[in-house]
Amino acid sequence: MHLPHSVRNLVLVGFMGSGKSSVGREIARRWAFRFVDTDATIRQRYKKSILDIFTAFGEPVFRDEENRALQDLQNSLQFVIATGGGIVLQPRNLPLLRALGVVLWLTASEEIIWERVSRNQNRPLLQTENPRLTISNLMAARSPLYGAVADLTVDTSGLTHQQVADRVVEAIRVWSPDRHEDHY
Ligand code: S3P
Repeated sequence: MHLPHSVRNLVLVGFMGSGKSSVGREIARRWAFRFVDTDATIRQRYKKSILDIFTAFGEPVFRDEENRALQDLQNSLQFVIATGGGIVLQPRNLPLLRALGVVLWLTASEEIIWERVSRNQNRPLLQTENPRLTISNLMAARSPLYGAVADLTVDTSGLTHQQVADRVVEAIRVWSPDRHEDHY
């Protein structure tokens, strides 16, 4: 089962380490949709890592590029789109996310996010004295933003990417009938 015909794309939002890219790639494979990751688009554009882009040009330039990546996707059809964890910070991104299709928020507990992101040191916003506390603060600030933009939420805690993909597909299946009714 894919998306209802009235829904053009699947957009994944959520905190760093919530599994947006891995799960998104898996769902795209299952549905034979194209997969795009806004971080990867920006990395390719600059031929640099996200950390290097932040270091060389600063966060505002990165945020402008994030907005541009969303604008460039507006005519897409049958894409699974993974976004950077900060995509919800800019109010101008919210209508763009919603216009793309169904927005699904992947959640995980703080402990699990910490366990996942502490494995690599390449996230610019976590280059702080106390990254564990930074995560806690950022999650508290951002959770309401993810919640406000998302149509659906799937908790990923303790699940493999395959299991999360199963849950995402099921969440969309359950949600779809309401969408169809909206259009009759
Ligand atoms: C960011 C999350 C990162 C990346 C950048 C900023 C954020 O993406 O866009 O480091 O503000 O949370 P992931 O969510 O894919 O780690």
